[in-house]
Amino acid sequence: MSGNTFGTLFKLATFGESHGPAIGGVIDGCPSGIQLDLNAIQLDLNRRKPGQSAIVTQRKEPDEVTIFSGIFEGKTTGTPIGFAIHNTNQKSKDYSHIKDYYRPSHADYVYDEKYGIRDYRGGGRSSARETASRVVAGAIAKQFLAPMSINAYVSAVGKLSLDTHPSEVDLSYVEENPVRCPDIKMAAAMESLIKQIRKEGDTIGGVVTCIIKNVPVGLGEPAFDKLHAELGKAMLSINAVKGFEYGSGFLGTQMKGSEHNDLFNSDGTTQTNRSGGIQGGVSNGMDIYFNVAFKPVATIMQNQQTINSKGEQVSMQGKGRHDPCVVPRAVPIVEAMAALVLADFSLRKRTNKI
Ligand SMILES: Cc1cc2nc3c(=O)[nH]c(=O)nc-3n(C[C@H](O)[C@H](O)[C@H](O)COP(=O)(O)O)c2cc1C
Repeated sequence: MSGNTFGTLFKLATFGESHGPAIGGVIDGCPSGIQLDLNAIQLDLNRRKPGQSAIVTQRKEPDEVTIFSGIFEGKTTGTPIGFAIHNTNQKSKDYSHIKDYYRPSHADYVYDEKYGIRDYRGGGRSSARETASRVVAGAIAKQFLAPMSINAYVSAVGKLSLDTHPSEVDLSYVEENPVRCPDIKMAAAMESLIKQIRKEGDTIGGVVTCIIKNVPVGLGEPAFDKLHAELGKAMLSINAVKGFEYGSGFLGTQMKGSEHNDLFNSDGTTQTNRSGGIQGGVSNGMDIYFNVAFKPVATIMQNQQTINSKGEQVSMQGKGRHDPCVVPRAVPIVEAMAALVLADFSLRKRTNKI
């Protein structure tokens, strides 16, 4: 299996399966001398971890990270940062029913066909447990990037959608409710909806919006490695992601150029920001904002028709502890992947001009 490494200069390789002894990663290319707040890494992991509220999977994992290398006396040394998170709450028996059955719209069938062998316990490598490693690396990248700030929040659950522009959202409320929606009333409605969906044994999708502030001009490498192209790849590499749009996105198609153009101020900033902080694949110094769409995840606690490994039609029902809606836990994952992209481009920018 290739494709487990992300980045060009600031690189992350991840390893591990959901029900193996541990998951983890190696960050290769992190510059030396960054004073790290290790608690901030754990805080981001806590925002992603299962069992954190009544509206996420009830798997109880402490998700404590152990760092093996690359940090000395609280600072990065420039050598590879190796880390692991031990898996402590596996209930592999919950997954014996999918050993020979393929969950519709999960990765079971394609893994079997592609590799001829599959660790079905907890979804193995296809489990979003892998994203905990991304959160560790992203938390380190965020500290390298300061004072740039990267904040994500839930802007939609099913058809409940916040229509406030990202630049007008009060981010202070995001971590105050289990949904991670910055609007108090909307957060309560979303929470009830997720609880209802869970009762029905079903799942529901949603949207995570991310806003990045204090971005310098010049991040992104035309032509193939445009900033929005790399952000798109980063987001689309997160489990269950179905869509990515930045700036005016798909709605921009309904405007005329005369309405859509961002007019300049004399200092190079723009009066509006429909470009979403990126022009020609390069950051222009304005805030970057984008939306990431997550599907209703595959494992539902209802009977569904599927096939087994012999191609026979069978009926199956999900078992075990699953997320009825993944967007509350996806918020720190989106931030982490954005941080990895920006950290990489910040290093690459240093090769641009003398
Ligand atoms: C934070 C998070 C939690 C997830 N939890 C579950 C889950 O409990 N059950 C499930 O079937 N899928 C879950 N998923 C999604 C699967 O990992 C994903 O759908 C699967 O790997 C197939 O990949 P695809 O949906 O990207 O095609 C989760 C995704 C994320 C981001």
